[in-house]
Amino acid sequence: MPEKRKILVIGGGGREHALAQRLARSASVGGVWVCPGNAGTEGPAAEGRASVANVSGEALEVARSLRPDLVVVGPEAPLCDGLADRLAAEDIPCFGPTRAAARLEGSKVFMKRFAERHGLPTARAVVVDDPSQLEPALAQFEQPPVVKADGLCAGKGVIVASSPQQARSAALDMLRGEAFGSAGARVLLEERLEGFEVSVHAVCDGERVLVLPAAQDHKRIGEGDTGPNTGGMGTFAPTPRVDDAWLLRVRDELILPTVRGMADEGTPFRGVLFAGLMVPRDGAPRLLEFNVRFGDPETQVLTAVADGDFAELLCSAAGGRLAADSVWCSTRHAVCVVLAAAGYPGPVRAGDAIFGLGAAAGLEGVEVFHAGTRREAGSVVTSGGRVLGVTGVGATLAQAQARAYEGVDCIRFEGMQLRRDIAARALCAR
Ligand code: AMP
Ligand code: GLY
Repeated sequence: MPEKRKILVIGGGGREHALAQRLARSASVGGVWVCPGNAGTEGPAAEGRASVANVSGEALEVARSLRPDLVVVGPEAPLCDGLADRLAAEDIPCFGPTRAAARLEGSKVFMKRFAERHGLPTARAVVVDDPSQLEPALAQFEQPPVVKADGLCAGKGVIVASSPQQARSAALDMLRGEAFGSAGARVLLEERLEGFEVSVHAVCDGERVLVLPAAQDHKRIGEGDTGPNTGGMGTFAPTPRVDDAWLLRVRDELILPTVRGMADEGTPFRGVLFAGLMVPRDGAPRLLEFNVRFGDPETQVLTAVADGDFAELLCSAAGGRLAADSVWCSTRHAVCVVLAAAGYPGPVRAGDAIFGLGAAAGLEGVEVFHAGTRREAGSVVTSGGRVLGVTGVGATLAQAQARAYEGVDCIRFEGMQLRRDIAARALCAR
């Protein structure tokens, strides 16, 4: 039997905890290391799983000393910064795109121009790179446009304006460098689309793709989709609001043309391409954004509904020989409910003790993924905005939802925020 794989996961959120757990369940994996990880990604190996351990240090240095069979990069920032290129230069296999390919997420202007070059269905947009261009650009929209900073802004660079005045002042704040520094030096004004949002992930090897089940996120902090946008307050998969034919359409109209276009332009895309889509009344998918990494908290449900050897899938994609049959869609459903700290999505307090983790994790069909947590004097305390993602898995969406909330109800910490309506709309719409 060949030696088992060593995998290094870069990141410390709920997505990375879910990836590490899922990889540790793969038959081909002997050990998973997470850099820097969180309180959930350390501790003894569960039965039938490879060990998962935290490792600290700078990602490239850690990869150099560990020499893993694969590095899986969780967040977008290191990818946009060229981590995959630096690993490639040292012959360390990496699942994640090069810096040039990561521009699909790293520059919204690049993405929009790419979409126009390759005929991808997306919202009409105008690029503004100087305050003097703002008024003529605004005049091109009948409704207040969505304002987007070009560069990475940790998920905060999009303002869905409700008035022209709000759009104007958001764009000016960005252009003057007041809102996001150099990431806002160029701004996109974009036609506002209506509908519901779906997250589609495709594992790509530069040429071939495997599309994972469609998931839905809940971006707003408040129930009924109210209040400010967040990184995501809860997800479920698969969503009953789209069917397999729709997913094939997304693959053929969006994912494959993108992968071919990137290859033709000399920047092949290897890694996971995550399309944030708006689905209007006519059902025709429209691209809102590309991400060049797994979604958080989408990963916490996708890894629960996909069967097979996840490590083989990611290793084969990284090597340019996608083994698309190494992972397949189960008949299970999953719902993830995010527990966030008081103040999120604004500044949050850290260091509050978390109670009930053991009770929640002991429930059938419940897995608790850590995000902003750390260990302090033997107990687990909060250390970030999104603290935990409680995932329920079941034979139906309703059962998965019930299990997720059963898990949630075991857990408490000071100021805990959550939405009680994760997956509720999809269950009503059936
Ligand atoms: P993005 O980071 O581009 O996905 O934008 C964050 C969120 O802003 C999306 O998930 C949508 O809820 C919203 N959004 C972005 N672009 C548009 C658009 N053109 N029309 C309506 N909502 C949008
Ligand atoms: N949940 C949305 C994202 O990961 O960007």
